[in-house]
Amino acid sequence: MSEEPLLSVRDLRTTFGGSLTAVDGVSFDVRRGQALAVVGESGSGKSVTMRSLMGILPRTGRITGGQAMFGGRDLLSIGEKELRRVRGREIAMVFQSAMEAMNPTLTLERQLTEHQLWHGLCTKAEARKRAIRALGDVGIPDPEKRIRTYAFQLSGGMRQRAMIAMAMVTEPALLIADEPTTAVDVTVQRQILDLLKDLKDRGTGVIMVTHDLGVARYFCDDAVVMYAGRVVERAPMDRLLDDPRHPYSVGLLGSGVEVGGRDLPLKPIPGSPPDLSRRPAGCPFHPRCTRAEMPRCGTEQETLTIGPGRDAACWKVAVDA
Ligand SMILES: Nc1ncnc2c1ncn2[C@@H]1O[C@H](COP(=O)(O)OP(=O)(O)OP(=O)(O)O)[C@@H](O)[C@H]1O
Ligand code: SF4
Ligand SMILES: [Mg+2]
Repeated sequence: MSEEPLLSVRDLRTTFGGSLTAVDGVSFDVRRGQALAVVGESGSGKSVTMRSLMGILPRTGRITGGQAMFGGRDLLSIGEKELRRVRGREIAMVFQSAMEAMNPTLTLERQLTEHQLWHGLCTKAEARKRAIRALGDVGIPDPEKRIRTYAFQLSGGMRQRAMIAMAMVTEPALLIADEPTTAVDVTVQRQILDLLKDLKDRGTGVIMVTHDLGVARYFCDDAVVMYAGRVVERAPMDRLLDDPRHPYSVGLLGSGVEVGGRDLPLKPIPGSPPDLSRRPAGCPFHPRCTRAEMPRCGTEQETLTIGPGRDAACWKVAVDA
């Protein structure tokens, strides 16, 4: 019935310095031509998850377990050499800040053609043509001229667009976007989302990390909610927004919240997430949970049970179902 996912992440674990578990058994699928929203408070492990998949962790970070199947290969075990062949060609990443992805000392031409050439996708002249087209596609005026400028000469919005052009120019099968529209104004945000939508319509799978429920509702098909390095709920996007199940999702999204057309941020929840180097016993959310009535909440961790279409890692949800 359902086709094989484009990316299938299972039980991903990433630690820092051996004792801090930032990603603690994360699993999700990304489908071709669909977008997966990844939401959760600051520090919940969204970026570390994405960096683990791309093989670009900070030096002290280590992947200690799991699988990430993509095109018949496990991204977590293929090694840096093969990963370099995948990265930037089949999988591209867009960051919150363009300065993370772009080198200010190189022209846009160099940055938008270098990886095409490195991957042997086309000739230099073709790469240049594709780069100019991609810059035009992201709404950069006069791309033939602009391609000769340096990233630092561009405004923030233009730089963000140039980074997206850089990610899109190889037509990757999977695009990982980590809060790509946080640093730009609303008009540019809408243009960027429309561009990503075109890409999705052409079959690219997208992971969209976002704090913005309006963006998630507008753009994403599926969603995962992360808390303390774990996925606590997985569901189709609309269903999650209309009827969140996990008490953390309920708190974060607000129950029955109206998101029609407006850009809404996630809501703050009283209390703060646990120190990831000293996780509480039991459900990691229990110190903040208003429904933590079951003794198991404080002693045992519920894992996601695969249900029809959605699942939540919560003892109470499991009992109520
Ligand atoms: N370089 C690092 N060294 C040590 N620990 C780190 C490092 N980067 C991240 N962490 C740990 O991993 C946790 C998750 O960080 P991550 O950047 O993935 O959060 P996030 O969900 O992307 O948050 P935000 O919404 O603020 O971007 C942090 O709370 C921190 O404990
Ligand atoms: S398992 Fe218990 S503490 Fe955790 S979210 Fe569910 S009700 Fe709350
Ligand atoms: Mg982040």
